[in-house]
Parts: sequence; structure tokens; C-alpha cells
Amino acid sequence: MQAQALPGFRDFYPAEFALRAHILDAWRRVARRYGFEEFDGPPLESLELYTEKSGDEIVDQLYAFEDKGGRQVALRPEMTPTVVRMVAARANALKKPIRWFSIPQLFRYERQQRGRLREHFQFNCDIIGEAGPLADAEVIALALDVMRELGLGPDDVKVRLSDRRVLAILLRGAGVADDQLGQAYQTVDKIERTPRDRLEAHLAQAGLEPDATAGVFRVAGLRGWPAVSSALADVPGGTEAGEDLEQVIGALQAIGLGECVEGDVSIVRGLAYYTGVLFEVFDAKGAMRAICGGGRYDQLLASLGGVDLPALGFGMGDVVLGDVLKDKGVIPETPSSIDVFVVAVTPEDMPHALRLSRELRDRDLRVEYPLSHAAVGKQLKLANARRAPYAVMLGPDERALGNVVLRDLASGEQRTLAYDQVASELVDLVAGAAPPVGR
Ligand code: HAM
Repeated sequence: MQAQALPGFRDFYPAEFALRAHILDAWRRVARRYGFEEFDGPPLESLELYTEKSGDEIVDQLYAFEDKGGRQVALRPEMTPTVVRMVAARANALKKPIRWFSIPQLFRYERQQRGRLREHFQFNCDIIGEAGPLADAEVIALALDVMRELGLGPDDVKVRLSDRRVLAILLRGAGVADDQLGQAYQTVDKIERTPRDRLEAHLAQAGLEPDATAGVFRVAGLRGWPAVSSALADVPGGTEAGEDLEQVIGALQAIGLGECVEGDVSIVRGLAYYTGVLFEVFDAKGAMRAICGGGRYDQLLASLGGVDLPALGFGMGDVVLGDVLKDKGVIPETPSSIDVFVVAVTPEDMPHALRLSRELRDRDLRVEYPLSHAAVGKQLKLANARRAPYAVMLGPDERALGNVVLRDLASGEQRTLAYDQVASELVDLVAGAAPPVGR
């Protein structure tokens, strides 16, 4: 028998589930603030949806198999092909621009390492049917607002912004031939993780002259829009190629997010379908993998779905984000599972505890009572372990007078009140509308 979860797959015990819920709730709140509608698709798709356009890296990582009907299928490793398939199928009926989000669990057979598992939850936000750069700025602002919602500011995270067309024209300007561009992109993508001499050897093998190789490193090292735009001014057509990127940066400055954004043409992104502006969100120290990545994929609806619509979006995983939140100490405390514990002092009080519990639950309070009789001290211990803020004690003396004792478990203060009042009193206390129990 397999005693553990598979490598790269997580068990979510309640404490881990609480962190996951904290992240997913923030994703949903912020997406709704931006007017995005939630959707979902199937976790299993036909294999060819990915083999056609996603690129070799992700195809190598597929969980793919033949189903019992002889179909070649794969667990979804990303959401973008599904979005494209769904939008293309109803392209005429959907009001453009489409603003959709989803939170799928995705599966990639990756080498397990920090920030990389074999399943993760990924927040996907996409705008389909809008070609202008304000759409790019909109999704980047959304991603940054998620960071803010979770307690991460400009000192904690940065957006690195690039454009495939800008990188291509700068690399051509540096002497890279068209048929060497793919190899040059791969080099730029690995530049921060791989020793320079290894990359130089790769480029030499791909036929690059030493000058062009040096150019690849020079271009990849450009940081900040001023440096990128002055490099663009030196190549024919460069300024035009940088117009969209410049406008996206301008819009982000107008929104007030300029300090979070850095022009950085070394952002290439592994997926094959991106066509224009690209971005990734990183922890400010750059110590971890990307928290989020996305960009424009203006050709994908035409090539996968036969409809010509510009599109863009991003995916943000819960794994790196969770690590960053832990690193910064901005994860919430384990929440209490109940608002009130109903204590039955003697076994004879139990029927009354059952009735009161039901009345309190009808008022939408979260309630627990002992499922088998125990001493009061033991019941209060359980209440504390549940982090219950309040206990209601039902004993023979109070019962004879139609009363209960309401106890604040943090301060230990308690007072007696009429049975009929306790539900309303607790509703107000839990809502923060009543003064503390002792007063
Ligand atoms: P991606 O860069 O492959 O893009 O993934 C986006 C994010 O998902 C990453 O930055 C990372 O946070 C997380 N992620 C990816 N793989 C793993 C993994 N094995 N373990 C943990 N986290 C992971 C895409 O998937 C694109 N489809 C995003 C997109 C949406 N582009 C446009 N729209």
C-alpha cells in the first residue's frame, strides 16, 4: 500500500488548506473587483490541444495516456488552451472584450524543487478581443493588486516587463540571424540560472559569431525602460517595435504602479505561443521562481480555434506565492473552527445543549458541543483547542432559573443571562457589535 502522497502532490491538512483558501479567496475578490467572470473547463483534455501550440517544454511534462476509448488524453498542464478552445467555440455569441478568470488545479511532471511541484492551483486571468496596450496594463495591475491584497507591496515584489518583438529586433540588431533567434531566446531565458561559458558554447554551436554572442548578453542585460528604448533607437524599426511596451509602462505609471515595474528584455517565457508584451512577477530579491507570468498570445485563437481575436493574460500559481507569503510573515493565523462551544455541565443538561446548539446554528453561528459527556474542564480544553472565542455553559442551577452562563474564553470573564437572550447576544458579539462579555 502507498503510505504517502505521490512526490510533488500535496496533502492539504486544515492548516495548509487555510493558507490555500486565503490565497484563492484573495484571487477571487480581486478578479471580481476588475469585473472578471469566473469559468472552468475539464481537467482532462485531448492531448493534441497541448502538442500543437504550447511548446516542447510543457509537452515533455504532460501526464498523458490513452483512455479506455482509445483517445489520447492529458491532464491539463495549463489553462490557456482550454480558454482558447471554449472562447473559439462561442466566439460570436460572447461580448468582447471577454474578461474571464479561473482557478484550475494543473498537473506537470516536473523535477520537484522549491516552487515547483507536480500539481498546483493557478489563477488565470485573460482578456480576449482587445488589441490595445491598456488591456496589458489592466491584467498587470490586477496581478499587482492581488499582491497588495495579500500584504505584499513594491518592496516585496516586482514586475519584469518585456516584449517578444522588442527582444527579436534587438537581437537581430546585435547580429543574430533569424534562424538563430530560437536558440538566442533559450539562452536569454536561462541567463540567470546557467554559467555564461555553457551558454556561450551553446550559441557557438548554433553558429553565432563571437560578436553576436556578446550582443546576446548585452541585450539580455538591459534593465529599465530608458536603457531599452535607447538601445531600440539604434536599430532600424526599433522605436516602432517598442511602442506597445512604452504605452503599457505609461499606463501602469498613470495607474500609480510605476515603481513596481521594470523593463527587462531577459523575460522570454517558456511557452511558445506568446507574441507581444510579456511579464513576470518576482519577489523583489529575485531569490525565487516567478510568482506569476503571462503576456499576449494574439495568434493562438486563430491557430487553435480558427477565429481571429487578440488575447492576453497571465497565470499565477499558489506554490511560489505561498512561499513568498511565508517568507514575509504575512500568512493568517489558523482560524478558529467555531464561534461558540456549548458546555453541558451534567449528562442531564445534554438535551438542552442539543436544543441550544441547533438554535445558535440557525442564527448562522459556528457551534460545537461534546459528542460524549466529559467533565467541564475537559470540555473547556476542547473549546480552547478549537480557538472558540466563547462558551455557553448549561448546568442544573442555571437551567432551573431559565438562564445560561456566557463565558469569554480569552479573558475568562463570564456572566449569567436569560436563555432566550443568548443567541442574539452571541450574534452581536461575533459581529463585533456588542461590548465584551464582562461588561
Ligand atoms: P507558466 O509560466 O507556465 O504560464 O505558469 C504560470 C505560473 O504558474 C508560474 O509563474 C508559477 O507561479 C506557476 N507554476 C507553473 N508551473 C508550476 C509548477 N510545476 N509548480 C508550481 N507552480 C507552477 C502559464 O501556464 C500560462 N498558461 C499563463 C497564461 C495565462 N498566459 C496567458 N494566460
